[in-house]
Amino acid sequence: MRFDIFTLFPSMFDGVFCESILKRGQEAGLIDIALHDIRSHTTDKHHVCDDTPYGGGGGMVLKPEPIFRAVESVLDAAAGDEEQPERPIILLTPQGRLFTQEMAVELAQHERLVLICGRYEGVDERVRQHLVSHEISIGDYVLTGGELAAMVIVDAVVRQIPGVLGARWAAEEDSHATGLLEGPHYTRPGVFREWEVPEVLLSGDHARIQRWRRQEALRRTWQRRPDLLRTAPLSDEDRAFLATLAGERDCE
Ligand code: 6GU
Repeated sequence: MRFDIFTLFPSMFDGVFCESILKRGQEAGLIDIALHDIRSHTTDKHHVCDDTPYGGGGGMVLKPEPIFRAVESVLDAAAGDEEQPERPIILLTPQGRLFTQEMAVELAQHERLVLICGRYEGVDERVRQHLVSHEISIGDYVLTGGELAAMVIVDAVVRQIPGVLGARWAAEEDSHATGLLEGPHYTRPGVFREWEVPEVLLSGDHARIQRWRRQEALRRTWQRRPDLLRTAPLSDEDRAFLATLAGERDCE
């Protein structure tokens, strides 16, 4: 899978993309991340990428020409004779749709993603209207630019590509992949400062362990993110267990 990222600050990505899973994915040829400096697509002597807003007011707005030129140069270079598949061109902006695990799974189905990092006060509206197909935000807070959001999205999407995670990591068990938060995890030692690992995990009884894990995931979700229980797929057994938790709370 190929990612083309358009930014005024390509060096911001160096540390994140050169470590761990993103590094291994690139080395294994499963992902290819190309960073494009929007500034190098300006045509004026001073390489200006922003300007004051029409109508006045504070802040600066990213100009449309360098962004269009940068994105079109990369996409034209990739265009062969064959018809182009539908290709998301994503603008990272706090005004976008809130990014979710479901969106990460959907975006991972594409061969190629284009990500444009907004900056300053905003991006000229014609970029949204005539270049971009999706606008995504990673949360209800304001970042200085879309770069951190692009890193978050690439990381979450790459985890969904078969072969990127080693056998020791399982994307299917991740918090949110099941629609629930994960329950607690333990590793050696069995007793640390007199705090013991739950006995069930040492029992060797895999059916019991599975049931315990499911119940702890349900408990944690119920305690911390009860909103998720409205959409998570739940069995009759899950619902029966949740009913016992609700009872506990009612008695408090
Ligand atoms: Cl995608 N960009 C900016 N600038 N701020 C954000 C964001 C994106 N998502 C949440 N806050």
